[in-house]
Amino acid sequence: MEQTNRGRLADATWDAITEMDEQNRPIHTFQVCHVMEPNQNNWLRSGWIQRQAAQRVYVELRFTLRDCNSIPWVSGTCKETFNLFYLQTEEPLSAVAFQSRIMKVDTIAADESFTQTDLGDRVLRLNTEVREVGPVTRRGFYLAFQDVGACIALVSVKVFYKRCPSTVRNLAVFPDTVPHTDSSSLVEVRGACVENAEERDTPKLYCGADGDWLVPLGRCVCSIGHAEMDGDCRACKPGSFKAYSGNTECSKCPSHSSSHDQAATICHCDKGFYRAIKDSSTVACTRPPSAPRNLVSLINDTALFLQWTPPIDTGGREDITYNVLCQRCDGRDGDSGVTQCEPCEPDLRFIPRPLSLTATSVAILDFATHVNYTFHVEAANGVSGLGVSPRSLANVTVNTNQAGPALVGVVRKDWASQNSIALSWPEAEKLPSEIVDYEVKYFEKEQEQLSYSSTRTKNPSVVVTGLRPSTVYVFHVRVRTAAGYTAYSPNYEFATAAEGNEHEGRRLCLCSHWLCSRKEKALIFCVEIKKLVLCQGYIKARMKSEEKRRTRFRAGHGLYFMFFTYVDPDTYEDPTQAVEEFAKEIDPSYICIERVIGAGEFGEVCSGRLHIPGRMDIAVAIKTLKGGYVEQQRRDFLREASIMGQFDNPNIIRLEGVVTRSRPVMIVVEYMENGALDSFLRARDGQFTVLQLVGMMRGIAVGMTYLSDMGYIHRDLAARNILVDENLVCKVSDFGMSRVLEDDTEAAYTATGGKIPIRWTAPEAIAYGKFSSVSDVWSYGIVMWEVMSYGERPYWEMSNQDVILSIDEGYRLPAPMGCPVTLHQLMLHCWQKESNQRPRFNTVLSFLDKLIINPKVTIDTCRHPPDDMPDYPLFISIGDWLDSIKMSQYKNNFLAAGYTTLDSISTMSLDDIRRIGICLIGHQRRILSSIQSLRLQLHHIQQSGFQV
Ligand code: ADE
Repeated sequence: MEQTNRGRLADATWDAITEMDEQNRPIHTFQVCHVMEPNQNNWLRSGWIQRQAAQRVYVELRFTLRDCNSIPWVSGTCKETFNLFYLQTEEPLSAVAFQSRIMKVDTIAADESFTQTDLGDRVLRLNTEVREVGPVTRRGFYLAFQDVGACIALVSVKVFYKRCPSTVRNLAVFPDTVPHTDSSSLVEVRGACVENAEERDTPKLYCGADGDWLVPLGRCVCSIGHAEMDGDCRACKPGSFKAYSGNTECSKCPSHSSSHDQAATICHCDKGFYRAIKDSSTVACTRPPSAPRNLVSLINDTALFLQWTPPIDTGGREDITYNVLCQRCDGRDGDSGVTQCEPCEPDLRFIPRPLSLTATSVAILDFATHVNYTFHVEAANGVSGLGVSPRSLANVTVNTNQAGPALVGVVRKDWASQNSIALSWPEAEKLPSEIVDYEVKYFEKEQEQLSYSSTRTKNPSVVVTGLRPSTVYVFHVRVRTAAGYTAYSPNYEFATAAEGNEHEGRRLCLCSHWLCSRKEKALIFCVEIKKLVLCQGYIKARMKSEEKRRTRFRAGHGLYFMFFTYVDPDTYEDPTQAVEEFAKEIDPSYICIERVIGAGEFGEVCSGRLHIPGRMDIAVAIKTLKGGYVEQQRRDFLREASIMGQFDNPNIIRLEGVVTRSRPVMIVVEYMENGALDSFLRARDGQFTVLQLVGMMRGIAVGMTYLSDMGYIHRDLAARNILVDENLVCKVSDFGMSRVLEDDTEAAYTATGGKIPIRWTAPEAIAYGKFSSVSDVWSYGIVMWEVMSYGERPYWEMSNQDVILSIDEGYRLPAPMGCPVTLHQLMLHCWQKESNQRPRFNTVLSFLDKLIINPKVTIDTCRHPPDDMPDYPLFISIGDWLDSIKMSQYKNNFLAAGYTTLDSISTMSLDDIRRIGICLIGHQRRILSSIQSLRLQLHHIQQSGFQV
């Protein structure tokens, strides 16, 4: 609103004068200049000004005022100020009533009366002064100007009030709002959602005294069928849809579906395609599968097997199941000659069942012999039966004449070693169809077939490996033909060689223990090339190194562990055995405990020295098991040693040994002078170069690469579980907790009952316990963040629940102060929601190696995130940011001044920081330097295609 009142001002002693300005435009002024006469009292009054919505009124005066020095002979009578008055009334008044109730606003003086030109001339200058009038509460008011002897020309009077202009924020419309009279209180205004939008959280803005909108809260989101564009909710175009309200885009119709109208909330399936009842309305439409392929039958004397391969066309679904339908077709209709079929006998048994099979085979028992059975195998999926499509069937007819025994000839032992037995038998003859292979089934005689193993061979001979020395085994053999299995041969009992009696039988074998299969192959090869002596040397060397790696054979089950894999001590029936196998027993007299350095769940942690005779003594950390433990606690305590003892890597804490045969029970590990990484970094805040920090992260990556290669999942990778030695070498520790996280104060119970360190753990591990080496990669990203922020707590003081929610919404930790963009991008890569999109540890390692070899090039130029990386909004609010730079006390200053987003603070200057009330220079500097680094990061991130 602007009110200027000219012409209606009406006292005789002020003259209404029209002058021309420099551009020759008329300016209407009111002038007074009775500077020679004393006791002047000249009034100029406005007309009645209606208040409208105003509560606080502002008056802007433009005027010239001559200084008395520029007028000769006026000292004593000449004045350089005039007075501004106002009067509030409900109605216009007469002049008489006016005089008595008038209120003074201010005495107005000129800032500038004259200025001096280069030539020394004095030029009259226009002054602008603004005064606040009010609070005004009546329907209208007058303004009045009192001259007391000055020389004034009043050029303009602007009367206005401030208001927050109507605006749209977060899809809510906020009306024109007049601020409160009280400048320190804000007017809370509720917004109304724009058309086709709905409230998520009540949208609100606060109107400040200066007419600015502050502190946006809540929001509206576009309703179904509509998506946001330019502050509006626009209907989705045909061919797209939006099924849920929210600030998401309209999505293209999924495969085999379409929408023909605007604002579609669903895309309907194309002809022949369907959605199952359980399918969400947003998924692609699918169709029934094609028929199963390659259906074959195999038969032996007691069982009939059907096998098939999945259909070529799954119909776009993964929920394929199979139904097996059976008909008995053993007669012909006498008249027509057409084969007569009837449903099969109800007592035919299908293993596991006839319907809803998920595997591609079924066994059928209790069939009749000399009968033709026809089996129809139907492929079905979630949309089978929804349309009129034909059933997807494959058929096979089986004649059960073939069923019946057909024996393998006598099985002989060719030779035996401690762990292997070689068998052979005459090639089977007179079988109804071609031989596919032989199956040899065997078990320890003493075990009485409680568990058995089997192996297959194409030839009528086999070397059965992995057996125990001096043990009698029972073997029997059967043949598999295209038509099914024959019956088993009778049982044959053969024993392995006794321990110490390396070979027995015809052929020389070096086999021993778990290396059998590999060694045998190597040996046979050796014999063939007639270099036995040389090869024996090679095999023994291999055995020695591999024995070190403890590749193990699980007795009796015919399964091999991979070479170099970690063995879970929980797979031992007796965990003490695992400790014996993987940890050296130390004589307690070799240990000298010096001092207590900490406390663990099981007892104190001490430092000391280990002196093993004949070896240099070394500094060690000693974990003790406090007295009064129960057996389970002793096992849990020693579990860590049996894990750690399997590792041998410069970045994994080294186990020196254990004391289990005397009290206290102890675990002795190498001593790490700088203790845990998190507290070490906190104590040395800001003291390392980026290269040193990257060096620490590299060490951890080396350790983790090793662990993941070994198949070990850490589950509690965090800076507190990394130890640092005197040379800043970081080593991964804390292995006992991979099963129970009792010892970790960060671990919280999840909905599924597990105890998990939420802030360090990948979402899939929190949600459904899916721990893997790539969930360790997520934790590694958090450790990187801890390192780069010198031990800051991830997600600061947010609650665990909020951390889970915000991660789910796609927020991620922002780059710590001074962290190169490349490193933050690597962190973001580790925090990809989809675990298979995260890098593997070896990739992380080679990236860090590149960074170390050529830090400048990589830090400065490697700004582009990997192609497959999604955009992450930076996880930051003003509060989080201030927390991160330890300036939390200023949260309200920022919020009250309307700084609510990362973007808005990134443009703040030192003046802005002062203006919002941050007075301490040190704090101003800290905040400004953080803003500058933020600005840089935002710039980099925007350049590299990331959104904030
Ligand atoms: N605290 C726990 N283990 C330690 C170790 N190996 N060295 C130093 N401090 C430790």
